[in-house]
Amino acid sequence: MDRFIDEKIEQFAHDHTEPEPELFARLREETYRTMERPQMQVGLLEGRFLQMLVRLTNARNILEIGMFTGYSTLMVAEALPDDGRVVTCEVNQKAESIARRYFGESSHGHKITIRMGPAMETIKALSGPIDLVFIDADKTNYSNYYQACFPLVKAGGLIIGDNALWNGKVIDPQDDDTLAIVAFDRLVHSDPRVAHVCLTVRDGMMLAWKR
Ligand SMILES: C[S@@+](CC[C@H](N)C(=O)[O-])C[C@H]1O[C@@H](n2cnc3c(N)ncnc32)[C@H](O)[C@@H]1O
Repeated sequence: MDRFIDEKIEQFAHDHTEPEPELFARLREETYRTMERPQMQVGLLEGRFLQMLVRLTNARNILEIGMFTGYSTLMVAEALPDDGRVVTCEVNQKAESIARRYFGESSHGHKITIRMGPAMETIKALSGPIDLVFIDADKTNYSNYYQACFPLVKAGGLIIGDNALWNGKVIDPQDDDTLAIVAFDRLVHSDPRVAHVCLTVRDGMMLAWKR
């Protein structure tokens, strides 16, 4: 991923963030060694920020759309109370098998339920209330995911859209993924049901707080 934030500044922020536990370092290393597009992983800075949001909102029920090899899933699980729960959606079986191994090693793995199959089907079968949603799967469905999970989110709950700045391409959208991200950003921006902020953390994060 080309960075739109100065690399030295990002490194400084990284170096002054709570360090990465050994399990996460191994997961990151294996993902980069064995998976295509490993940079999809949120990484330490955004992972720690997600944890902070889980703690600040006292979230107990989380929905993640886009697990990949489970880095962000484990991050949010670690910040949940012992009876908290994260349901995470994925379609890639190779990613799933890696994630399952690391969830099995973690003392927080029991909080995680993996739902294999198209996320939209999983969302349709879920019941609320959900405290926090992290949208990080196929970009062309971002707006659909937002609309589908909105009724399940409690008042005061948070919906987070990752990659809200899509490598800076949102400034001049030229392809379907970028157009979909811009449509999602506009949808949230025009939604009176939420308070929202579009952050420049990593690849951009849209935070929408349901009134
Ligand atoms: C950006 S990655 C998620 C990264 C992950 N949050 C992390 O930090 O490691 C997006 C993932 O969504 C999955 N995905 C794509 N389309 C999907 C769909 N329709 N339903 C569920 N998962 C999907 C992909 O296989 C991919 O692993």
